[in-house]
Amino acid sequence: MSRALDYLLRERPRAMGAYFEFLRDAGSRLDPRTRALISVITKVSTQTEKGLVQYTRKALAAGVSSEEILDALLAAFPALGLSRIVWAVDVLIDHGVAGFGEAQAQAQEEHDVEAEVIDVAALDELPQGRAVKRGGPGRAVLLYREGDEVRAFKAYCTHHGMELMERGIDGDTVTCFQHGWQFSMPAGSCPRGAQWALEGLPVSLDDGRVRVTWQVR
Ligand code: FES
Repeated sequence: MSRALDYLLRERPRAMGAYFEFLRDAGSRLDPRTRALISVITKVSTQTEKGLVQYTRKALAAGVSSEEILDALLAAFPALGLSRIVWAVDVLIDHGVAGFGEAQAQAQEEHDVEAEVIDVAALDELPQGRAVKRGGPGRAVLLYREGDEVRAFKAYCTHHGMELMERGIDGDTVTCFQHGWQFSMPAGSCPRGAQWALEGLPVSLDDGRVRVTWQVR
């Protein structure tokens, strides 16, 4: 969130709180990928450079491909016009956003992979009843073990896609440091509503190893 929005939220909590509640409710029936695409288009429409980069990265983290973002820009052509679309692509290339410019071929290759199996941990190293974070860049995973059952979730906040940090874990609760949203294990649920729950990942246990299947598309 921008400093200005932080300031307004602090100074006018009722008005701004109602505004954010409106935004949350307005998008509550949409899936996270559609919400992310709409956010990208609004940033192009208002030509907000920082916001465009931020929301495009969030859309990518939510599983939207760079090809889908390009399609959305072109589909919004009647409202955006060519000059805004060219401006947006220039911004994304200049900021080195994955999937645009030179990185596009590599991203397309990744996008063509429908699912990726990632070895994230040994079962024995996972504590009981406490979430832990594993995985790598762009593939951060939260794991939660109960007995010999392990649940896995994408470690990205469902509010604005921020990566959830290890230091935000307190037992079975994970707090996002960006705006304080919380998620509870074992279901990855969010008290703000079922639509904001963390995205679960299929888990397989094999030979003492925990593997998750990361859905790329
Ligand atoms: S990004 Fe806003 S609470 Fe996580």
